[in-house]
Amino acid sequence: MENIKDHENLNQKKVLLRLDLNVPLKNGFITDETRIDKILPTINFLIEKKSKIIIISHIGRPKGKVNKDLSLKPICENLEKKTNKKIKLINDNIFKLKKEDLFLDERDQIIFLENIRFYKEEEENNHNFSKQLASLADIFVNDAFSCSHRAHASVNKITEFLPSFAGLQLQTEIDALKKVTSEIKKPITCIIGGSKVSSKIGIIKNLIPKFDNIIIVGGMANNIISHKGNCIGKSIKEKNCKVLVDEIFEISKNYSCVITYPEDVLVGKSMDDKSQIKELNQISDDDLILDIGPKTLNKIKHIIENSETVLWNGPAGYFENPNFANGSYEIAKEIIKKKSIYSVAGGGDTIAVLNQINALKDFNFISTAGGAFLEYLEGKELPGIKALN
Ligand code: 3PG
Repeated sequence: MENIKDHENLNQKKVLLRLDLNVPLKNGFITDETRIDKILPTINFLIEKKSKIIIISHIGRPKGKVNKDLSLKPICENLEKKTNKKIKLINDNIFKLKKEDLFLDERDQIIFLENIRFYKEEEENNHNFSKQLASLADIFVNDAFSCSHRAHASVNKITEFLPSFAGLQLQTEIDALKKVTSEIKKPITCIIGGSKVSSKIGIIKNLIPKFDNIIIVGGMANNIISHKGNCIGKSIKEKNCKVLVDEIFEISKNYSCVITYPEDVLVGKSMDDKSQIKELNQISDDDLILDIGPKTLNKIKHIIENSETVLWNGPAGYFENPNFANGSYEIAKEIIKKKSIYSVAGGGDTIAVLNQINALKDFNFISTAGGAFLEYLEGKELPGIKALN
């Protein structure tokens, strides 16, 4: 894998730069800027080298359709401030863009393409779409480690059409995760939460042989709570997971890996409700499970206390409402309490939780990646990284 740092001459080269600026937004405002801050060294490096930068990113999952709520405009404006450069957000259809029409004003150094997932061809890893994107630039840089588990056009296929390089942040993340996984100290606990159940539930069974404890919380846990015969009310759940959940418990019997999931929960009638503690057999049809309960929290704290390494991806609840943030905050505090624990946290929402309690600096390593982080731990070759190799 070649690093952009080692490229001999970037002066006036048009660089297609894939970033993951999929930051949390509330009413059009960015609620956590960490992913933007992490890629600034790459942008500043390219600015210094006098490259012309074409940024590609996605936000959310618009599923191939234009969705104004998922515009990259707020992120583009934020980046303008951070780089002190004027950045044009290009809304024109990518299929109609031509290389010679970009950067007509020679003072322009950065342009930003609108949400790449407005095109269905992105997730299809479409050949013609990738070729068209590639025709806009001279080289491609992937600085989106957190998207590299996706075989999408702007991450994977694009590399077939342009000389391709790793960005500075992507390289940092890979180097750090390589070190973490090769020098890992047991007992190892992996905490998996969040709401992207479909992306993560299939990964758990492959992590069982590698870890001593897997703690499943957040939306991820609802499938298990329901599988064990409990009502989960209106809570999020992934369909058709029965076999997967059976497999998780079956496989764990063959290894010394203990699977822990909530024994009690905090529920509300809506996302902005107050919280109420419930045992699993008390959840009613109109309840939403939005955090772990106190018994579960104590159990998790005990496991963390007895661990040497803790890897964490995905909050324990709907932390955006302070009434349901306690589980995630307490997990974070417990991890950093024991100084000898080697701690790694990953994913946009987990980073947002840690920022809210000013605990980001207390972790040994912070990965911008969520799903990609877990797939890396699984030992998978990520399509975006494979393509660079
Ligand atoms: C992430 O937030 O993990 C990345 O931006 C990937 O998003 P995705 O799960 O929607 O592909």
